[in-house]
Amino acid sequence: MENNAQALAKKAAGYRAADMVRPGMIVGLGTGSTVYYAMERLRERLAQGLACEGVPTSFQTALRAREYGIPLTTLDEYPDLDVAIDGADQVDPRLRLIKGRGAAQTREKIVAEAAKSFIVIVDESKMTESLSAPVPIEVIPYAVTPVLNRLRGMGGLPEVRQGVQKDGPVITDNGNFVIDCRFKKISNPEKLEIQLTGIPGVVESGIFAHYTKKTIVIIGGKDGCRILPSPDIVP
Ligand code: 5RP
Repeated sequence: MENNAQALAKKAAGYRAADMVRPGMIVGLGTGSTVYYAMERLRERLAQGLACEGVPTSFQTALRAREYGIPLTTLDEYPDLDVAIDGADQVDPRLRLIKGRGAAQTREKIVAEAAKSFIVIVDESKMTESLSAPVPIEVIPYAVTPVLNRLRGMGGLPEVRQGVQKDGPVITDNGNFVIDCRFKKISNPEKLEIQLTGIPGVVESGIFAHYTKKTIVIIGGKDGCRILPSPDIVP
């Protein structure tokens, strides 16, 4: 359960990211509670005259963006985005991530790939020396059993994610299942990311290890934000 300090830290990070959006930008909008804060600030800036459009990564984000009056567009209109703003579940010192608590990692990765820069917004609790959280893996239902077996063969401990207030497996916005797979040690996230998407039936995993060069991480705290790799990178 999130405490007040954590909510304030997320808000600080979300607001700082939204303040980096410049007029005319097309912005990828990630999913989750920290992105809600970025959208809250975008709503304020739109009211002050900022013009921008967002590409949502989930039904949750699209609904909130509509509520906030943030104009939405699509990757068909804009296959290249100026920036994507998104949360994360874990961030390591080399800015590699685990994402997907909200089961939105597939669209989040598509949007991160399309963006010139990727702004990741977190509170301090997400920072870790090495990635260790269970990896969310979106799988087409037809392939779930062979994929579970392949993951076990790789030394993983996979579990099909179950719904809350819904019996049976979580169904993603793309109509698929999610497997959360714990690995004893993730020593090479880049390699694991490629291995996972090489399994037939896997749509996408929550390891984001290939965007580090275009990633800025804003870590909210009670005394403002710190920015990695460096605040100088911020326009
Ligand atoms: C959703 C995600 C989220 O961005 C991630 O779980 C962080 O969420 P929050 O900002 O609520 O802590 O990957 O699939």
